[in-house]
Amino acid sequence: MSARWLDDERWGESEQRLRRKKHKPQGRRRLSDLTAAEGEDSGDDIIRRLTDLGHLSEVVAELKSGKEATAYVARGPRGSVLVKIYRDLEARSFKNDSVYREGQVILDQRAKKAMEGRTRRGLAMLQTDWVLAEYAHLWALWRAGLAVPEPLAGPYPVDYAETVPAVLMRLIGTEDEVAPRLSDARLTPEQAASAWSQALGGMADLLRLGYVHGDYSTYNLLWWEDTVTIIDFPQLTTRQNPNFQSLLRRDAESLATSFRKHGLSVSGDQTLREVQRRALGPAPTPRVMLP
Ligand SMILES: Nc1ncnc2c1ncn2[C@@H]1O[C@H](COP(=O)(O)OP(=O)(O)OP(=O)(O)O)[C@@H](O)[C@H]1O
Ligand SMILES: [Mg+2]
Repeated sequence: MSARWLDDERWGESEQRLRRKKHKPQGRRRLSDLTAAEGEDSGDDIIRRLTDLGHLSEVVAELKSGKEATAYVARGPRGSVLVKIYRDLEARSFKNDSVYREGQVILDQRAKKAMEGRTRRGLAMLQTDWVLAEYAHLWALWRAGLAVPEPLAGPYPVDYAETVPAVLMRLIGTEDEVAPRLSDARLTPEQAASAWSQALGGMADLLRLGYVHGDYSTYNLLWWEDTVTIIDFPQLTTRQNPNFQSLLRRDAESLATSFRKHGLSVSGDQTLREVQRRALGPAPTPRVMLP
């Protein structure tokens, strides 16, 4: 395979993200502020809908506005919530989604055509698909016992579909001090070694289940109380994707590269071999969901 995507825009974007600084929460916003706002953006509309549905009671702060999504710190009936609201269709580029979607079967031929043709309806479908995929992956990984945030809508698609284009999950850290990404954390050499081992373990846990993350680096790993949590799953890919091996290799490379900042000097190949070795080891204990 020519691996055209290796130097595609998304890859360039993640390189840029390597340099992006973390934003601290930008101050408290009360729900009443949002509700009263005039000329509100669609983010506020979505938050109001999530509140009406009983998922949220208060928005504490906007955490970070990225290219693909805006993250908010909020509060809900089960504690602190990270609300990830995907950008509107026009602002989002689905151009490079195809590498992650290859091998997926879309049975509805009309839907498939609309998505491929990038009609407005097709884009809306892609957007929904992307959000639902993040929930489905979060639920699968959470149940399997992996170090991922607990999804806070679901577990059935009929429940989490109503929060689209937002994904609700447990906030890692606290409302006053949100967990930093590993790319922003300052680590002692011991902590760096532990974080590296956990990061390898997390990638091995995914591989054991037949998944590759697709954007695995310190930019999508959170660090809180000496524990690594993996985030950002819409592009998670399965073995039925013909690009699986290339994506796996790319993830190993970006993990190794992004850890250089923490003083680790390991090649992508070594990283991949270690991940493969660990993937043959025992799996985490699944989380039991009581009825
Ligand atoms: N469960 C969580 N707890 C705390 N912070 C989180 C959580 N999930 C995401 N974040 C924060 O929100 C940011 C954006 O989340 P994510 O990486 O899933 O989206 P993204 O589309 O890649 O956005 P970006 O382009 O900003 O990285 C993360 O970089 C992280 O700082
Ligand atoms: Mg991310």
